[in-house]
Amino acid sequence: MKHTTLACLAAMLLLQSPAWSAPEPTIPGYSLGQPQVARAPYSEADLAALKKVMLFSDDDALALRQSKPILADQVDAILDVWYGFVASTPELLRYFSDAAGKPDAAYLAAVRKRFGQWILDTADANYDQRWLDYQYEIGLRHSRLKKNRTDSARSVAQIDFRYLSALTIPVTTTLKPFLASKGASPSEVERMHAAWVKAVLLQTILWSHPYVRDGQF
Ligand code: HEM
Repeated sequence: MKHTTLACLAAMLLLQSPAWSAPEPTIPGYSLGQPQVARAPYSEADLAALKKVMLFSDDDALALRQSKPILADQVDAILDVWYGFVASTPELLRYFSDAAGKPDAAYLAAVRKRFGQWILDTADANYDQRWLDYQYEIGLRHSRLKKNRTDSARSVAQIDFRYLSALTIPVTTTLKPFLASKGASPSEVERMHAAWVKAVLLQTILWSHPYVRDGQF
């Protein structure tokens, strides 16, 4: 009996142990784990099936967690590169434009804070229902159902679907030098990079739900 209690305690601790950082409540609009986030229309079982098809293994989750301490103090520099890509790509910058068609600095800055937290959340690879629910929310925020609402922006109504998965490539290609900058071996860098490609593509697939006709996701 005593043994069972100890085993239960150990299991609970293990369950809580992934490098999970509590949601950062001071970031405006960041609402992972908050009660106002709707339940995702996909389950943890759906996620497991999707990961299986993407060859996303436990080793990929470990590689993402390994990347967290490497990336944590480089978040701002990474965002500079990603924002630089968006700023130099008119096809993308238009989605951050204001009603007059000019880049909306306040909107860009507000989203940037949540984007920084997203880097850490992605590296946590803590795929529970709260995370799934927030993926659905992020998808809604890219689509016409919820874009602009969080930051009261007056920008274009939606990010066109085709660019969501496309951005996986610049995001993960430009991440690689940051993964390599702290002395990890080339094979470890490859392993972390491959995990990041899968993790970002996985999320953009989940984000696509609001764009897909009912029953066709
Ligand atoms: C790999 C693809 C992408 C990733 C990883 C990504 C990541 C993110 C993240 C983390 C957020 C903030 C979510 C939150 O509110 O907590 C966000 C919001 C946003 N993203 Fe993306 N994004 C991607 C594709 C795109 C593309 C192609 C565009 C086009 C420029 C874009 C424009 C925006 C905009 C405008 C917002 C603010 C939406 C709102 O009004 O709430 N994103 N994105």
